[in-house]
Amino acid sequence: MKIFLIGYMGSGKSTFGPKLADAMQLPFFDLDECIEKQEGITITSFFIEKGEASFRKTEAELLRKLCSKNPSFVMSTGGGAPVHSDNMRYMNEQGVTVYLEMTPTQLAQRLAPDYKKRPLLRHLKEEELESFIKEKLKERESFYRKAQIILDGYQPDVAEVAKEILGMKRGE
Ligand code: S3P
Repeated sequence: MKIFLIGYMGSGKSTFGPKLADAMQLPFFDLDECIEKQEGITITSFFIEKGEASFRKTEAELLRKLCSKNPSFVMSTGGGAPVHSDNMRYMNEQGVTVYLEMTPTQLAQRLAPDYKKRPLLRHLKEEELESFIKEKLKERESFYRKAQIILDGYQPDVAEVAKEILGMKRGE
C-alpha cells in the first residue's frame, strides 16, 4: 500500500509521516530528502542553482522512480508536488492520498520562525507571510482537495488515520 501525505509547507507532513509509517509498519520516505540525497544538494541550493522548473522535473521523476521500486510506503511530499507534472492524478492512481489541511493563519505561525530557509518564502517580509500563503493556497487548493482523505492538520490522530486508511482499502 502506498500512502502519500500532501499539503502546504509547514502543515506537518514530515512530522506526521514517520508516525503514520510506524503505526502502519511501513517504510517512510520524505520526497524532499530523497531529492537532496540523490542530487547531493539542499533543496534551497537546488532552487538557486538550477531553478524551479528543473526541481519540478526531478521531483516528478523521483516520485515515479520510488513508486515503481517500492510496493508499500508512507511518503511525505513537498508542498508543490501535487500541483505539478500531473503528480496528483499519478499519486491517486498509485495509492491513498492524505491532505493535511491547515488555515493560512496556522501555517504562517508555524512557518514564521524559519521561513527564510525556504526557497519560495525567503524573499518575503514576515508580515507578508500570511497573505502570501493565502494566495498560494487558493491556487493549490483544487489540487490538494483531490486527496482521498482530508484531515485537520492540527494534531491529527495517528491511530485514527491508520484505521481510516485500512478501512478504505478493505472497502475496495
Ligand atoms: C515547496 C515545498 C517544499 C519543497 C520546496 C517547494 C512548495 O517542501 O519541496 O521548497 O512548492 O511548496 P515542504 O512542503 O516539505 O516544505
